[in-house]
Amino acid sequence: MKKSPSPSRFRLYEECVQSPNWQVDYLPQFHTWLTGKVPRKFREDFCGSARVACEWVKRSSKNSALGLDLAPEVLAYAKKYNLADLDSKAKQRIHLKRADVRKPTHEKFDWIGAFNFSVFEFHERKELLKYFKAAHRSLERAGTLFLEVAGGSGFLEPSLEKQTKRIPGLGRVTHAWEQSQFDPITALNDYAIHFGLPDGSWMNHAFTYHWRVWGIRELRDALKEAGFKRSVVLWERADASGAPLHEFLPAEEAPNHDFFIAYVIGLK
Ligand SMILES: C[S@@+](CC[C@H](N)C(=O)[O-])C[C@H]1O[C@@H](n2cnc3c(N)ncnc32)[C@H](O)[C@@H]1O
Repeated sequence: MKKSPSPSRFRLYEECVQSPNWQVDYLPQFHTWLTGKVPRKFREDFCGSARVACEWVKRSSKNSALGLDLAPEVLAYAKKYNLADLDSKAKQRIHLKRADVRKPTHEKFDWIGAFNFSVFEFHERKELLKYFKAAHRSLERAGTLFLEVAGGSGFLEPSLEKQTKRIPGLGRVTHAWEQSQFDPITALNDYAIHFGLPDGSWMNHAFTYHWRVWGIRELRDALKEAGFKRSVVLWERADASGAPLHEFLPAEEAPNHDFFIAYVIGLK
């Protein structure tokens, strides 16, 4: 019997890792809270397959988006599958560009998002600062930069966490998130995503990341130095047993959770 081809690693990533609906429904309310304005022009930095940008232009005919990423392979996938799925009008309001986010764009945006811990791609403070300055220059007055970050000791220790889900048209897929041992001197760590496919085979190291795990305080200091007039941290609420509620609120202090996902917002 002929073996069916392996699904694209980008499709598997989208299905197992991303939640673009939540990001475009939830986060812009904090832009409005901080600026009194409804954001319209969005830039998705480190956009990968541009799922968030696609959801953004679907939400309103007034919304537009630009996605930036360095990797031609993922941008080609985004155009072939995600942009192709948009209706013709929404398609006119979204553009993708192969570009380094450390360079400012001529066009200015109301809000910029850097999701899935992408800011950890920058290992040196000089590079981080270059990115923040470029993002600052690319924002409209009172624009906002949203950084999705993770941390806590549970993000730094070796572990292998597996989750299985049924993906429409593909079948049961296991998503495995592997962490290595954090180096406290360099603040670097290695992470990898592997997929267990419906035919029982494994797509190992489908994605690998060599990240500098920046602390929230370090990011806020760098945002300030880059010219952002204020930064706000959105911290996840937990129930009485400590279980995360997937609801994020501004906070200036927080308990030392074993693992956290948080948003750091820079306000221009
Ligand atoms: C962790 S992935 C995030 C993908 C997507 N944003 C998400 O939420 O899942 C990081 C992405 O950043 C891109 N990237 C890394 N450095 C970059 C840079 N300096 N400028 C633009 N894109 C970059 C990589 O090609 C990769 O697609």
